[in-house]
Order: sequence, then structure tokens, then C-alpha cells
Amino acid sequence: MPWDGDVGLVTQPIRSLKINPDTTIVALCGPPVMYKFVILELDAHGLPHDRIFVDLERRMRCGVGKCGHCQINHVYCCQEGPVFRLSEIERLPEGLS
Ligand code: FES
Repeated sequence: MPWDGDVGLVTQPIRSLKINPDTTIVALCGPPVMYKFVILELDAHGLPHDRIFVDLERRMRCGVGKCGHCQINHVYCCQEGPVFRLSEIERLPEGLS
């Protein structure tokens, strides 16, 4: 059975959503380049960054705080995440890169 839902970039359906910023929470999981563009769309809806959660699990190796591979500045994703509020990590220089 062929897919009859939306296809294409995830930013396009977000653009047409009716979002109440006071009652909406967003969880993002996917390629890092997507986060930047989805966040721009959510900003256009006025969604506060403390209501957007991002998964940074891709940075992990050992998962137990030993290798430092997951480290974003002083934050160890494997110990403190891997899911963070955007408002918690956006000020870190390497937060979403
Ligand atoms: S994955 Fe090794 S320290 Fe976090």
C-alpha cells in the first residue's frame, strides 16, 4: 500500500501547523542539520525554547562518563542527557553542531 501522507522536508508540515506555544511540547530526534531548520520554524510559531527537547545521543561512545566523546563543553551527554531542553544547551558553543 503506497504512503498517502506528507512527504518532503519536515519543516514544511510544521509551517502549516496551528501551534499553541503555551500548550505545545516538541521532541526532536534526527540528523543534527535538521534541528537548526526545525527550530527556526518553531521560532516562527513562538514556541519557547524550554518547551523544545533535543536528543544528542549521537555523540555517545562509552556511555558511562569515561571517554569524553559525548562532552559538550562541561556537559557529559551520557551522564546528564541524552535528552536536553533546547534552552539548556543552546548557549553552549558546540551545543547543536
Ligand atoms: S559517552 Fe563516553 S563520556 Fe559520555
